[in-house]
Amino acid sequence: MKIVILQGSPRANGNSAWMAEEFRQAATAAGHDVTLVDVAKKKIAGCMACGYCRTKGEGKCIQKDDMAEIATMMNEAEAIVISAPIYYFTLSAQVQVAIQRMYCVGKPAKVKKMALMASSYSPNVYDGAKAELRDICNYWGAENCGVVTAKNDEQKTEETRKKIVELAGKM
Ligand SMILES: Cc1cc2nc3c(=O)[nH]c(=O)nc-3n(C[C@H](O)[C@H](O)[C@H](O)COP(=O)(O)O)c2cc1C
Repeated sequence: MKIVILQGSPRANGNSAWMAEEFRQAATAAGHDVTLVDVAKKKIAGCMACGYCRTKGEGKCIQKDDMAEIATMMNEAEAIVISAPIYYFTLSAQVQVAIQRMYCVGKPAKVKKMALMASSYSPNVYDGAKAELRDICNYWGAENCGVVTAKNDEQKTEETRKKIVELAGKM
């Protein structure tokens, strides 16, 4: 299965990067074709809601930035996995912007499965991110394969790694 992981933290050695890499290794070992994208390193502006993509643009965004390559990857992916920190009780802006810019495509053409890995300092801050995954899965017609969370004392632990391997096994 072709899997794209969207890693949405700007911290190169942070928790989201670690979770994304653990997932990448587990899914690759299981025989999947996995691409890990650090979306926080990309230049992606917010959707301008100009409507160009729905009219003259015929599915192409008027903005010329790094989203063009990411939209192509997401459109070809059979599974899309998000790994992101919680910022103010929701997914980081860096990953949200990549999701919202998929407006020009509507639904990624081949996506069948989705999953989320999220980390935070505090416990009990994942409701917004989980609800977003649930609703996007419904909208895109993808199976929700689940969520692995890691609050402060659960980060980069063997227990969390096992949960990530288990999540990768659902792909
Ligand atoms: C702008 C910002 C907002 C944050 N908001 C929250 C929050 O609402 N709840 C929380 O528990 N942690 C919050 N945090 C802490 C991060 O979610 C936490 O440190 C996370 O593990 C960082 O992941 P990373 O290492 O992948 O960057 C915030 C951090 C930043 C920088």
